[in-house]
Amino acid sequence: MVTTISSTGTDSFVGTARSRVDGPAKVTGLAKYAGEFAAPDLAHGYVVSGGIAKGRITAIDTTSAEAVPGVIKVYTHENRPRTAWLDYNYRDAVAPPGSPFRALYDDAIHYSGQPVALVVAEDFETARYAASLVRVTYEAELPAVNVGAQAELAYDPPMKRAGIKPPPEPWGDADGAFQAAPKKVANDYRLAVEHHNPMEPHASTVVWEGGGKITVYDKIQGVSNSHGYIAAVFGMNKEDVRVLNPYLGGGFGIGLRPQYQLFLAVLAARDLERSVRVTLTRDQMFTFGYRPDVRQRVSLGADAEGRLQSLRHDALSGTSRFEDYQEVVVNWSAILYDCDNVALTYNLTKIDTYTPADMRAPGAVTGVLALEIAMDELAYETGQDPIALRLKNYSESDRTEGKPFGSKALRACYAEGADRFGWARRNPEPRSMRDGRELVGWGMATGVWESLMQQSSAQATLTADGKLTVGNSTGDLGTGTYTILTQIAADALGLQMEDVTTKLGDTDLAEAPVAGGSWTAASSGTAVMKACRKIAAEVFGMARAMDDSPLANVDFDRVVFSDGRISVAGDPSRSVSLVEAMRAGGVDKVEATDSAGPDSGHAKEFSAYTHSAIFAEVKVDEDLGQIRVTRIVSAIAAGKIINPKTARSQILGGVVMGIGSALEEESMLDHTIGRFMNHNLAEYHVPVNADIHDIDVIFVEEEDRANPMGVKGLGEIGIVGTAAAIANAVFHATGKRIRELPITVDKILG
Ligand code: MOS
Repeated sequence: MVTTISSTGTDSFVGTARSRVDGPAKVTGLAKYAGEFAAPDLAHGYVVSGGIAKGRITAIDTTSAEAVPGVIKVYTHENRPRTAWLDYNYRDAVAPPGSPFRALYDDAIHYSGQPVALVVAEDFETARYAASLVRVTYEAELPAVNVGAQAELAYDPPMKRAGIKPPPEPWGDADGAFQAAPKKVANDYRLAVEHHNPMEPHASTVVWEGGGKITVYDKIQGVSNSHGYIAAVFGMNKEDVRVLNPYLGGGFGIGLRPQYQLFLAVLAARDLERSVRVTLTRDQMFTFGYRPDVRQRVSLGADAEGRLQSLRHDALSGTSRFEDYQEVVVNWSAILYDCDNVALTYNLTKIDTYTPADMRAPGAVTGVLALEIAMDELAYETGQDPIALRLKNYSESDRTEGKPFGSKALRACYAEGADRFGWARRNPEPRSMRDGRELVGWGMATGVWESLMQQSSAQATLTADGKLTVGNSTGDLGTGTYTILTQIAADALGLQMEDVTTKLGDTDLAEAPVAGGSWTAASSGTAVMKACRKIAAEVFGMARAMDDSPLANVDFDRVVFSDGRISVAGDPSRSVSLVEAMRAGGVDKVEATDSAGPDSGHAKEFSAYTHSAIFAEVKVDEDLGQIRVTRIVSAIAAGKIINPKTARSQILGGVVMGIGSALEEESMLDHTIGRFMNHNLAEYHVPVNADIHDIDVIFVEEEDRANPMGVKGLGEIGIVGTAAAIANAVFHATGKRIRELPITVDKILG
């Protein structure tokens, strides 16, 4: 039996649907974002983006820009103030191995759109106009940006990225078993490069506080990362830097690493001894991280009934010249399915772009897409129902790590999802279903994502008026973190949610990592719970020590906290209010800090994943090549659901992004000039309201053993597998097997 940290048995709020506690601030405009904070005498920076992808700057003429009235200073590599010169100092908390990009460092151009100058002016418009007058002359070289053409230069990255598991050693004989298998499927798959495109572009407002101190509002998924970066790059004491980011207008992973506007804003503010803001444009949001171009091959060998005999998944991912970006692409295949002959490879090749970035379920979106289309192909090859095929090959333990799963209610996802969708009524024959002049297709796929814990601390303060404040430095990127932490804290001390204030996104708060990897609920949630339990124990001590205490001789594990009172379990007549106890104890507040991480609970004994089954209905107009995703059912196994309302929102968002991945999103890289050409929201398509129809979310029952609270994560699982389910539905509708996504009009008509 696994011990869990429980909130004294009074789950009043945890597990119930609650509206976002930060909702009113967001819809009334009270919530402020990094680029909106004001400061007296604020100067505005505008970045000049470089025009070539590879080569060097031979001359940079800033005289016309400097002559514009209102321009304060123009920074280039030639006049940049001193910053750290060791690579090491530029490595932020989630940087992949390598040598991080440094803006305005020297005359070298590493990728298209690289910042080559910063114009600082009294107002934004002046800075923008003056930036257009900066003249840069280059010595250009031909960039190599085509991952396919760079395939012969593939390498196994010598330095592994922290937190990213490399493929396991092969087991059995995948190639031999493939040769011998009666049924085979082997194909190449590719998902287009995608950009995150959060509504809020990157921005940093640096407030000059005097005396060398700065307060920074930075668009980041965790302010501790920017904090460490600024201190290391500018040689500042951490005490002289405070970083805040109470709200994000979307992150999706592009806010994990500090970006060049932060570097430039701090650089200028320190040099001018004045507050400076730098905001990037939508175009400039296409000048750094993106979901990488990964070329994949999946080879499946099976017996006549579809039982896997060989599983091979090979991936080649593009990365930049300067960093070895890595993500988990191929491991999922052997985590999801049980096979005795497995070979998984993951290699990199260098191209002349910026380093790719984690993008919602990085690696899994890409790898599971290929795997789950291949499984659909194998279902047709072996005449099996796609769900039956998956159940036949269902993994009961994680052979990539040799560990049992902490929980895996994937069977329930298949069953409940299929039931809700009406899968039993499906005629497997392609082109067999119609609605008027449209072809109808039903497809399904599996999803999987890690359920991680990251070392996080949290603080809690209970004041004598019965109000509780909790929090830490991590960010709420719109996922609902403020709300779920408020629910957890309220239950831990038996308070109303209105009595709890959650604070996030401030380096003055207890340290926590970036919000990413879907680990925040499990990590910060547990840390908040533990800090609150410390307070509970302390106040209980005060209550028990009261004269004639009704709790005298009662142990802590025999009391419950509810309605602002501590009472004996099963005997509410014996109770003391928190306020009375604190008054008797002679304190006006009780404070506690605690932390949680991989060592909490049983995270190390188990393989911990969230799972899903996604069912998609598409309607295809073959004359126009148009595809509509008319129905999605996403059945999710993610342990205990703290807040079904914000949880559902996460899955809805993931599914919408998955629809974008399947049908629309594609960053097009010009192989001659090495630039992403459709760098705006007119030409880079994301789903709009008219593209989204019915989305039905199911959370199946799942008791998890890995996390102390039985909580997994939800930010990413909703996108994984969604595009595969849609691609499989398109095959079912049309008989066309499309292995390069997005599935655009030309691929249906072609
Ligand atoms: Mo997520 S891609 O770790 O923000």
